[in-house]
Amino acid sequence: MLEITDIKVNYGKSKVINGLSLNVEEGEKLVILGRNGVGKTTLLKSIIGVLPLEQGTIKFGDTEVSSYAANARSRLGIAYVPQGREIIPDLTLEENLDLGGYAHTKNLESQKAKVLDLFPALKEHLKRKGGVLSGGQQQQLAIGRALMSSPQILLLDEPTEGIQPNVVAEISNILKRVQTEMKVTVVIVEQNLKFAKKIADRFVIMQKGQIVASGKTNEMKDDMVKKYLAV
Ligand SMILES: Nc1ncnc2c1ncn2[C@@H]1O[C@H](COP(=O)(O)OP(=O)(O)OP(=O)(O)O)[C@@H](O)[C@H]1O
Ligand SMILES: [Mg+2]
Repeated sequence: MLEITDIKVNYGKSKVINGLSLNVEEGEKLVILGRNGVGKTTLLKSIIGVLPLEQGTIKFGDTEVSSYAANARSRLGIAYVPQGREIIPDLTLEENLDLGGYAHTKNLESQKAKVLDLFPALKEHLKRKGGVLSGGQQQQLAIGRALMSSPQILLLDEPTEGIQPNVVAEISNILKRVQTEMKVTVVIVEQNLKFAKKIADRFVIMQKGQIVASGKTNEMKDDMVKKYLAV
């Protein structure tokens, strides 16, 4: 479904992604692991089209999207939940959701109903400003906003960062439902290993802008964790 072949991404002279290839199959739940600064966010940003490739190709379905603008990729079905959530604090919860849907659906209300079905905790706060919600609620809102575009694939950047353990469990349940009920393929960047193992069937580990290890999450070896993830 997503086919990344030998890509390089730089910030000016600083080379961040160095010849990385990765395939994601439809229906898969993949987690991308790696220490701080290895290029995880940069990889996601290059997939959604906000950072240009120096080299390589990205295919989504049958379409080569390497040169497509971010809005065109979004229209094809690629959605993104940014690190740090980035909801709009001065808009209400509902307005934040609507923003995610305007460009994608003529049936805003029905799509919103579908999304809110996944997030009973949000339903009660539709008229409250995004900025007054708790971290966990904001994370749910950010996921909900991304789902408003009815994506085929959802990319999430560290969804559990700074979130209380009980809410982490809730988010893991929501992502399972996103995958099973909405049939959305899920790719998560994560540093929370326990959460990663719970939510994903396959992992890849990044180091210095490359993938250095991969496998099934239930077969992840301790020495791998020590070598590439422990701090
Ligand atoms: N806008 C930018 N301009 C220049 N360098 C950047 C920029 N964004 C990130 N970098 C650098 O690129 C490298 C990879 O950053 P990136 O944010 O992709 O890492 P990450 O794996 O997501 O880290 P973290 O786990 O801390 O979120 C880092 O060395 C970072 O300092
Ligand atoms: Mg990051």
